[in-house]
Amino acid sequence: MSVFSGHNAGHVSNPFKHSSLCNVLKIEKPARYYETNSAGAIYDLPHNEDTEYGVFNVMKSEEFANSDYAQILRKNGFDSGKLLGSPSFAMNILKENAEYHFCDIDKDALDNINNYSLTGNLNVKTYLGDSIEAFLDDKFILSKDDFVHIDPMGIGDQIFEINSKGHTFFDVFEKVVASGAKTFLWYGYKNAEIKEKIYDNIKKVFDKHKKPIKSFDICWSVMAKEKSNKMLNLLGCGVACANVSDESFLALGKNLELFNKLYENAIYNGHPAPLSIERVSLIQQLRSFYGI
Ligand SMILES: C[S@@+](CC[C@H](N)C(=O)[O-])C[C@H]1O[C@@H](n2cnc3c(N)ncnc32)[C@H](O)[C@@H]1O
Repeated sequence: MSVFSGHNAGHVSNPFKHSSLCNVLKIEKPARYYETNSAGAIYDLPHNEDTEYGVFNVMKSEEFANSDYAQILRKNGFDSGKLLGSPSFAMNILKENAEYHFCDIDKDALDNINNYSLTGNLNVKTYLGDSIEAFLDDKFILSKDDFVHIDPMGIGDQIFEINSKGHTFFDVFEKVVASGAKTFLWYGYKNAEIKEKIYDNIKKVFDKHKKPIKSFDICWSVMAKEKSNKMLNLLGCGVACANVSDESFLALGKNLELFNKLYENAIYNGHPAPLSIERVSLIQQLRSFYGI
């Protein structure tokens, strides 16, 4: 399915992911930015109950008016119906100070990135094909100056989907975390079992490699109960971030609180629809492990 027909453009998960990403990139300033699942750079933004509840609600709020997220969107045609994907947020934050490597199995998406990046004269490379094998290749070595954004999110199962070589995106997550590279894993789940399975796998990676990981999660269960969340069929989503500074973890926590507050009195399709939020920190366990 082409990214232009299947993307969750403007759903609440979108501003949450992209504002989190902007906050972390601005602090971390990596030398190289990688995406395993880039999708495209710029989209047409539909008007429907999901986008009203999602990106339009965020963009009309005072809390986000001065954020990098909102300013980048406005600069890129939000008011004339355009929405950006993660590659463009990264390029707008890091500008010419980073190299960019975008992978996807969707050629249209990569063409869209190449057209977009031409306007900025940036150092951008795109790769068409399965990123799982590309990232797991022994010749592909990462360091702490690299930032890897992993985002296979669909209905939550994609992250566990086994490719023809028997690997999943969680194997990529494990390799990236173990290497010490800055890691931004975006996940979604359609039910509590998948959420638990994701958390269990993150915990296993932490137990094995003892690297700092925190996850920040929003859940829109009220919408799911109404069974009117047509666009995504998801219950919630979140980011598991690893090998970043305390400042970044703090910024992610603040962003989570901002979403919580913004959605306290939110209405979806005529129904009250607050978010519930959750954060899981595996750092305290790490500090006691090392006695720091
Ligand atoms: C949720 S979208 C990414 C959204 C994007 N990161 C953003 O935030 O704007 C997931 C993307 O993963 C791509 N994809 C799925 N399986 C893949 C694979 N094995 N290798 C590379 N890309 C893949 C899909 O084509 C799709 O464009």
